[in-house]
Parts: sequence; structure tokens; C-alpha cells
Amino acid sequence: MKALEGKSVVVTGAGGGIGRDFALAMAAAGARVLVNDIGTSVKGEGRDTAPAQLVVNEIRQQGGVAVANTDSVADWESANRIVQSAVDSFGRIDVVVNNAGILRDRFFFNMSVEEWRAVIDVHLNGSFYVSRAAAPHFKSQNSGCYVHMTSTSGLVGNLGQANYSAAKLGIVGLSKSIALDMAKYNVRSNCISPFAWSRMIGSIPTETDEQRARVGKLKSMKTAKIAPLAVFLASDAARDLTGQVFAVRANEIFLMSQSRPLRSVHRAEGWTAETISSHAIPALKAHFYPLDRSQDVFSWDPL
Ligand SMILES: NC(=O)c1ccc[n+]([C@@H]2O[C@H](COP(=O)([O-])OP(=O)(O)OC[C@H]3O[C@@H](n4cnc5c(N)ncnc54)[C@H](O)[C@@H]3O)[C@@H](O)[C@H]2O)c1
Repeated sequence: MKALEGKSVVVTGAGGGIGRDFALAMAAAGARVLVNDIGTSVKGEGRDTAPAQLVVNEIRQQGGVAVANTDSVADWESANRIVQSAVDSFGRIDVVVNNAGILRDRFFFNMSVEEWRAVIDVHLNGSFYVSRAAAPHFKSQNSGCYVHMTSTSGLVGNLGQANYSAAKLGIVGLSKSIALDMAKYNVRSNCISPFAWSRMIGSIPTETDEQRARVGKLKSMKTAKIAPLAVFLASDAARDLTGQVFAVRANEIFLMSQSRPLRSVHRAEGWTAETISSHAIPALKAHFYPLDRSQDVFSWDPL
């Protein structure tokens, strides 16, 4: 029996990039797949029904079962239509993969309210809307699985991505909350932080030899390399696995840390600004984090 035989899966943003490979791999693993995508640009401008339909055609050509949907995740009503469309087409819903995404990069001091809202709406609000729309189905059938996409831009940091970093770290909190609130209904929720050469990171300049060499290595991070972990998380083999954050980069899989106290200081009489300066900070300082970006932490070439 295939890993996802009998399961009905929604993959948002599945018309291209990482989501397309999720849809193809899940269909190959026996799932019936609702391929959702509004067919928009990296910035979220414009709409096209073709990308979702092309992925559906590809799945059908390989003998799989898939249906296209072009509703946006970024709105409560249309997010409900995505889930309903899976239920109407396949009779049930077992897995939600919140993968749809856009970028509106800008240094914080120049970021517009529109740029902030557009990114929060697709990533954070969209992940909430689609997850929440599926929740009553998961609750009543006493099973279900969420896979959400986060990013090291949020987990670690990156320049010019305040909107995206905040949304992606917000998704980690959303996933953990769903895992806690829905554990009693056998519903699981996990995050994947991918590194993959998609159009999203395809705009890196290639003018110098050094830049060309760097981009050459980044191109080895195939989008299809993220899919096996998503298939596994969606499968019953992962039945006890919830509340975790993984990262995938080419052939590496990482379990990411979650925030816990690192070190504490205590003074029986309480603290003043002066004793915080003279005692607490010197004691804690050795454990301060540098102002790392994702590339400072993942500093070696993809393997
Ligand atoms: N590529 C990477 O290295 C990387 C790194 C970290 C996180 N991610 C995350 O992985 C996910 C997939 O990214 P990708 O690199 O494949 O990007 P991509 O741009 O190739 O794919 C994103 C897809 O989402 C769709 N989409 C956008 N807005 C939508 C909406 N409102 N409703 C439905 N669909 C919508 C787009 O049309 C597009 O097909 C995103 O959540 C992204 O933030 C990617």
C-alpha cells in the first residue's frame, strides 16, 4: 500500500515551485490532491488559472487523481472554498499543506503598509484561514494533518524581509497552537523550513564569477528534495509526530530548535537598572545571539 493511499490532500500554492513537487509526490504516493494556486507573480500581482490546471494535467497523465482550484488563501471566504472544493471532489479532507507564498522585500524603514499587509495576508492569515476551514472536518473525523511552510528568514533572520520574517515566525506559533489545541482529536501540525531553488530566490544577481559560482551551488537545492519529508509528515507513519519544525536543504534534513530559557540570574532583593547593568547583563552576555542572518548559520554549501 502506498504511503498516502486513500487520503485527500490540499496543497496551496501548488501551481509551481515547491508546492508543485508536493502535489506530484503526494499524488504518486496515492493521495487525491486538490491543487490550489491563483497563478500569481512572486510579488502576488496578477492571476492565471493555467498553473494549477497544468499540475493537475501532469498528475492525471501519471495516473493520479487531482483537481484544480484557483481560490486565494488570503481571504476567509475563498479559503473556505478551497477546503470545500476538496471535500466536494474527494468526499473528505485528511491533509492541509499551507505552502502558498509571495514576497514584497523592502528594508523595514521603507516598507509600506500595503507591502506588510500583502505578505501577512498570504502567509500568516492564509495559513490560519485554510487551517481553520479544515478544522471542523478534522475534529469530527478525529484525524487530520497540517504541514506549514516556514522559513529561516523568520527562524534566524534576513535583511529586508520584516513582513515575511514576521509572517513565517508567526506560522511557527500557529502550528504549535494547532498541535496543542487539536492533539485530543488526533490532529497533527508540523512546519517545514525549505531551502530550494525556485523563482522566489531566482532573482539573485549573477554578474561576477563569484556570484555565478554561488548561484550554481544554490541551483543544486532542487524543489523536489523537499517533497519526501512532506509526504512522510502527511502519512500515518508520522502518526506520533507533531509540534516540530524541520528544515530541508538538498540532501540535508534538520530538526530546528524551539525557544527555551538559556540562562537565568536571580537576586533575592530584586533588580534595579544599575544591578541589571552590573550583574545580570555580564552574567547573560556570553549567551547573547549575534545578529545572524540565515546564511551566517547555514554557511556551508548545500550537500
Ligand atoms: N524557495 C525557498 O528557498 C523557500 C525558503 C523558505 C520558505 N519558502 C516557502 O515555501 C513556499 C513555496 O515557495 P516557492 O519557493 O515554491 O515559491 P513559488 O513562488 O515558486 O510558489 C508559490 C506559489 O504560491 C502561489 N500563491 C501566491 N499567493 C497565493 C494565494 N493568495 N493563494 C493561492 N496561491 C498563491 C503562487 O502563484 C505560486 O505558484 C512559500 O511558503 C515560501 O515562503 C521557500
